[in-house]
Amino acid sequence: MPHSVLRYGADYNPDQWLDRPDILEQDIELMKKAGVNVVSLGIFAWATLEPEEGRFNLDWMRSIIDRLYEAGVSIDLATPSGARPAWLAHKYPEVLRVNADRKRQLFGERHNHCYTSPVYREKVRRMNQTLASNFGRHPGVIMWHLSNEYGGECHCELCQEAFRGWLKNKYGTIEALNKAWNAKFWSHDYPDFSYIESPAPHGEHTVHGLKLDWKRFVSHQTIDFMKWERDSIREIVPDAKVCVNMMYFYNGIDYFEMAKEIDLASWDAYPTWHKPSETLEQTAADTALMHDLIYSVKGEPFWLMENCPGPTNWQSISKTKKPGVNILAGMQTVAQGADGVLYFQWRQSQGSSEKFHAAVVSHDCREDNRIYMECAELGRILKDISFVAGEKREKQAAIVYDWSNKWALEDAQGPRNKGLGYKQELLRHYTGLRRQGVDVQLVNQDSDISGYRLIVAPMLYMLREDFAGKLRAFVENGGTLVMTYWSGVVNETDLCWLGDTPHQLTDVLGVRRMEIDAMYDGETRRCVGEGDELPSSAQGCLLCEVAALEGAMPLMVYDEDYFAGAPAVTVNTFGKGKAYYVATRFEPEFYVPLYRMICRDAGQSAWPGDLPEGVMVSRRGAYTFLLNTLPSAAGVVGVEIAPYGTAIFREEDGGMTCVYNQKEFKWSPVGR
Ligand code: GLA
Ligand code: ZN
Repeated sequence: MPHSVLRYGADYNPDQWLDRPDILEQDIELMKKAGVNVVSLGIFAWATLEPEEGRFNLDWMRSIIDRLYEAGVSIDLATPSGARPAWLAHKYPEVLRVNADRKRQLFGERHNHCYTSPVYREKVRRMNQTLASNFGRHPGVIMWHLSNEYGGECHCELCQEAFRGWLKNKYGTIEALNKAWNAKFWSHDYPDFSYIESPAPHGEHTVHGLKLDWKRFVSHQTIDFMKWERDSIREIVPDAKVCVNMMYFYNGIDYFEMAKEIDLASWDAYPTWHKPSETLEQTAADTALMHDLIYSVKGEPFWLMENCPGPTNWQSISKTKKPGVNILAGMQTVAQGADGVLYFQWRQSQGSSEKFHAAVVSHDCREDNRIYMECAELGRILKDISFVAGEKREKQAAIVYDWSNKWALEDAQGPRNKGLGYKQELLRHYTGLRRQGVDVQLVNQDSDISGYRLIVAPMLYMLREDFAGKLRAFVENGGTLVMTYWSGVVNETDLCWLGDTPHQLTDVLGVRRMEIDAMYDGETRRCVGEGDELPSSAQGCLLCEVAALEGAMPLMVYDEDYFAGAPAVTVNTFGKGKAYYVATRFEPEFYVPLYRMICRDAGQSAWPGDLPEGVMVSRRGAYTFLLNTLPSAAGVVGVEIAPYGTAIFREEDGGMTCVYNQKEFKWSPVGR
């Protein structure tokens, strides 16, 4: 894929407007004016493409692809499997999903097909191959948008059989499976694979190993379906490039696994900008963590496949974006490694459930509409900064984010069934690191962690032996590890590790876990600092782990309750590296001085050092972006950054030169 440009565009659903040639005409005009150079075409167009089984209606799409291409707009062509036509569901009910309560869904909605059904697979294959043979070699088609937001699970008999087959393949014998799941508990041993059923509210839902493997299977089966779609296209167009649009902290698919099978990772971002309980910087930081995850799943530039240029319609309160914030959101995306910024959707739908969801072109069809004007301005800016396209990101710090760990952690039953707030824990470390200007990527237990200087493992409850080995070698060779409470507790089938924990790492960390006290909401335990680097006092909450010191040096200790004096933060030297242990959860502010100290000790220096509140930093290759999340100008390193504006610096001759300073986007309702 050429990296000479940043891609800019939207989901384009012209099948909703085929009886309005004037609208289709205006679309092309407005796309050109807004700097649009790519659209994701026809994501939900199956009923228009194949109105009756086997009768294809492609002329409209051919003419639209031609006209887009002539206008300089490339096509990310969708396979329409995300929603099926009514004839398909009625004739072949097996394509409809069965819920966990074993009830089959009726036709309706979308994203709800069975991933196993041979009929669905065959119909999808035929559809995809029809598209591929008609349009796959069109010079305008640069990418395939496989389905839409794959997700969910199906409990039909076909899926049950596939699950049993997957387990057989994994465990070989039923004895091995029973052992791995500790099925003896409550006499739940399975006599044979044929007895196994997916978890159900009115059936088995207490065997943790079963639940974990079901989640793994659903992820596997969804990816298998995606590969089926991909391969059906590649049979016709062998070099077809494919992408999928992933979702915000989506739990159901291991995106590290999915990313191995695609050419381009992308995701759909819908932050609640201007939520009164958060600063814009906090909202942006939450989005930033996702951008970094999507960059990391392939370790390559990604696309933001969808974002909303104005208010959504499905959040509990759908607010407008203040003037300049849509541009800021786009710049943030590019700053964190995206080569494409797209919207859902190009033109606002006239009816049905998303009619009030903002789009680049609103119901008023006007080009002096604020949303359109700001989108067009971002189109110009992205053209101006196309020099960053294709730039990769340096490996500095990595946070361990592992789907199997998350699945097991959430299902643990104890010590806090009220919720462990895994994401809050991640965000504390992430924000602490990002405030130091350190670039963060995410890794899982299969990742190669060499090349990073700092690895953070928050709540790595499920710790595989091979990964514990990698962490040990990493520290031994000079790396810095930060591990927290509730790590190294269970193995990969969710059986508790016997012996000292964190499993296999007590000598690396210099601490050994003895017990864990769970806190009610609002309950805290005072901790005090032992040196002058960390705050003299801080509050532990959520879980307070009581650990024995086995060589580590305490940096913070508990100062109340029966465990007063026990370590709350420690550091240990191991080999050429250092390992920190954080035995409880602190207030978010604590992680700023914590990571200032850790990053400095790890030799992780970042330019421009401590940043003013509200200014965020991110870098790609030789470029460093400073993003101002404030509604007022910010002065940083002698440069004035406009309200909600971005300045880009390039490393040159050992110094930093400002190579782009974005103008403020101003808009007022007065006088219009
Ligand atoms: C998702 C879907 C889109 C649209 C948007 C609305 O991301 O992929 O089709 O429904 O949500 O925000
Ligand atoms: Zn099914």
